Amino acid sequence: MAMRFTDDFIDRLRDSNDIESVISSYIELRRRGRNLVGLCPFHNEKTPSFTVYPETASYYCFGCGAGGDVIGFIRNIENLDYVEAVKFLADRAGIKMPDANYDDTTANLRRRIYEANREAARFFHETLFTEQGKAQLEYLQRRNVSPKMIKHFGLGAAPDDWHALENHLTAKGFKRSELIAANLLRYSEKNGKKYFYDAFRAKVMYPVIDLRGNVVAFGGRVLDNSKPKYINTSDTLVYKKSNELFALNFAKNGNDRKIILCEGYMDVIALHGAGFENAVAGLGTALTPEQVSLISRYADEVALCYDSDEAGQKAVRAALALFSKTGVRAKVIRLSGGKDPDEIIRVHGKEMFAKLLNSADNDTEYKLSVLREKYVVETADGKMNFLREASKYLATTDALERDIYAMKLADELQVSKDAILNQIKDAARKERYNKSKTQLSEAQKQVQNIEKAIDPQRLKNMRIAKAEDTILITLLNNAGFYKSLKDKLQSDLFFTPVNKQLFSVISSRIEGGERVDISHLSQFLTNEETSAVAKLLANQSLVSNTMQECEDCIIVLQEEQKKRLVQNPSQMSDDSFLELFSSLNKDV
Ligand code: UTP
Ligand code: MN
Repeated sequence: MAMRFTDDFIDRLRDSNDIESVISSYIELRRRGRNLVGLCPFHNEKTPSFTVYPETASYYCFGCGAGGDVIGFIRNIENLDYVEAVKFLADRAGIKMPDANYDDTTANLRRRIYEANREAARFFHETLFTEQGKAQLEYLQRRNVSPKMIKHFGLGAAPDDWHALENHLTAKGFKRSELIAANLLRYSEKNGKKYFYDAFRAKVMYPVIDLRGNVVAFGGRVLDNSKPKYINTSDTLVYKKSNELFALNFAKNGNDRKIILCEGYMDVIALHGAGFENAVAGLGTALTPEQVSLISRYADEVALCYDSDEAGQKAVRAALALFSKTGVRAKVIRLSGGKDPDEIIRVHGKEMFAKLLNSADNDTEYKLSVLREKYVVETADGKMNFLREASKYLATTDALERDIYAMKLADELQVSKDAILNQIKDAARKERYNKSKTQLSEAQKQVQNIEKAIDPQRLKNMRIAKAEDTILITLLNNAGFYKSLKDKLQSDLFFTPVNKQLFSVISSRIEGGERVDISHLSQFLTNEETSAVAKLLANQSLVSNTMQECEDCIIVLQEEQKKRLVQNPSQMSDDSFLELFSSLNKDV
């Protein structure tokens, strides 16, 4: 990779973007000793395994293996490339970017896509109030969308025309290639010739706005009953639909850390119009772990508001399973008297929706009522089996909840409360036993899976990997050791691919008299390699960092290398072959 930023610039950038305060603006961190911990923003978890190390200006998650420096954090959480993340932090700290010849093609295209989207949104919105948008405006009025909400959401109209947007945007200086990258323009090919056409025609337009206020995508609804009902922007450089939620830009503010999650654009608009400004919706995909994790950044409680049909209830179960892995409490709104919130508000008014929201089942109530439907509780057998399953579920809740529901069930089913509580206790004991057995192996499996995906060789060769780790962390802490170890250290001594790459970057920087802080290394490393450095830093207390220990590790690696090479000499470089050859001869 070409040289990009000077160490001095990176130092200045890092020092004016304190990792603790940067990360704190995304997640809540608590102090633990010298470090800080919080819930990982890159995977869903209930107990914090995400750790920030102010001393090394790095972070590492023991749950999912994500790690890096402050630039890497921004790169991951804002979904940017390296240069863009640097620029993001430079802007944040008011530092001028150096006029280097770094490659910013992607950054430029991304910027153009944002601009094209913004201009398109403006065009669609203005068109709504012209002759060409008449049918769309009438459609919205027919569905009771107020002028206020039309403005609030920037709703619009795509004209019934193949080139209206294309003409408008090319006249404003946008290239067709940029509009295609934004997914606003499409083309077909015939006889080697391209025919361009607007992606959205004769549609009511719903712009999707990200948390920073950028227009990132559009949903376009047909005006009649034809299929498909919606055309959506597919993923682009600035948009990943599995990572966004419609209206979260509004809902994240002043929501008392509560969010209503519903299914469609129209539901969200109806809810906001009725004063429920904390409503959001997915964007035409099943709820994803990324969206759940996003919600958990802004809410402690989510009310699921899905259609009452079979598909909707299936979605509820899937959503409950995802939220149960986070600290977010989930409630389920039972929609009666209308199949979606839009309809309920239109037909029965917002008071009705407020009532449904207030009486929403918490996840325990929901779970119990689903279980109950499985059994005929009027029969003794049915009652027993239901109570057995219910106890199993209640065993996963806290003492207060157990008591409340034991009482409730006792009352409803004419059984003694103590009998139910005992049943729950039994189930809890079993659960604890099973959990302690599986939990440890689960956690190990999870970390191993991640490691396997990143570096399959590593797991198979833990002893070697550990020796390599020790050498690398020693060099990171004491670059001075390199001089005396240099003769014994060649990169083909390293066997696991990620460590081999780390060694080659670290050693070449030390040789060049350059520093090896994680923030200096990260511009030469991939995300995975940066995570590996962060992991080394996170585990460094396990390593004693002495020259002697390093030398012992080198011996381990040399022996391994010998074994490997004897098995497969063709993989050797000429130098190491000669060396091995002479050492083997010495041995005999
Ligand atoms: P719905 O069919 O419930 O749509 O789909 P809706 O928003 O309530 O629309 P109206 O009330 O019929 O006008 C829920 C969501 O699923 C996605 C959209 O995001 C929609 O808001 N969807 C649905 C699609 O992306 N494509 C489709 O063809 C249908
Ligand atoms: Mn609807």
